[in-house]
Amino acid sequence: MYDLEAWTVETVNIDELYLQPQNITTWKNCMEIRYKKSNVNIRLWADYDLSLLERLMGDPAMTEHLGGPESSEKIRKRHARYCQDSISGKDPMFAVVLEPGNIAVGSIGYWEKEWQGQSVWETGWSILPEFQGNDIASRATALVVERARKEGKYRFLHAYPSTDNAASNAICRKAGFIFQGVFDFEYPPGNIMRCNDWDLDLFAEKPAAASANNSKAGQ
Ligand SMILES: CC(C)(COP(=O)(O)OP(=O)(O)OC[C@H]1O[C@@H](n2cnc3c(N)ncnc32)[C@H](O)[C@@H]1OP(=O)(O)O)[C@@H](O)C(=O)NCCC(=O)NCCS
Repeated sequence: MYDLEAWTVETVNIDELYLQPQNITTWKNCMEIRYKKSNVNIRLWADYDLSLLERLMGDPAMTEHLGGPESSEKIRKRHARYCQDSISGKDPMFAVVLEPGNIAVGSIGYWEKEWQGQSVWETGWSILPEFQGNDIASRATALVVERARKEGKYRFLHAYPSTDNAASNAICRKAGFIFQGVFDFEYPPGNIMRCNDWDLDLFAEKPAAASANNSKAGQ
């Protein structure tokens, strides 16, 4: 039998660049510190990302705020669409990756939407459970904001997290989105979801400061 604690400490001593041994108490703690120190990047969705999508969209816990798990067939169709969009460059979807190692840990993207008579971008994100709580979605969102800003096509980037999705609402708040109100959406068909509408002005020079409305939304 391996002594996991002993092995962890030994590994950490070799890996001083990333980890301070005095911070290591458990294997989980060790990995969390590693994720926090990793670079978060986004790369266009690829054919080999199907198993990632199956974990993100086929799991009841992961899809609690997204209308429930999708069937294998629906996930395959979604995957084909993501691959196609990644080739065409329209409505780009990305795998969220940790570097070094190029470990795919989630998805994020932005796509065109008609909203209140205007063409806007919508964004959305998912991170695998074992990597959550390490600021990864927040950092990936900042990369998407930067990319959509450079593209310069639409002025507003919207996100519509469910009102009870505390983590997603926190991401919007941290990224400088402005809370615009609460709306009901039918998604998927037959399921009504109460969502917060957040938007971010991509043409503004500086991200908007948090307002009183922002601090209340989604809490
Ligand atoms: C939403 C999700 C992507 C967040 O990913 P993550 O990498 O854990 O997010 P971050 O670590 O960047 O955390 C973002 C903020 O949410 C907060 N947060 C994370 N989990 C939380 C929870 N369960 N309850 C309350 N706040 C939470 C964090 O504290 C952080 O805020 P802070 O920096 O002010 O402390 C992830 O939980 C997920 O994939 N959920 C399932 C899919 C989903 O619901 N997607 C949203 C579609 S809009």
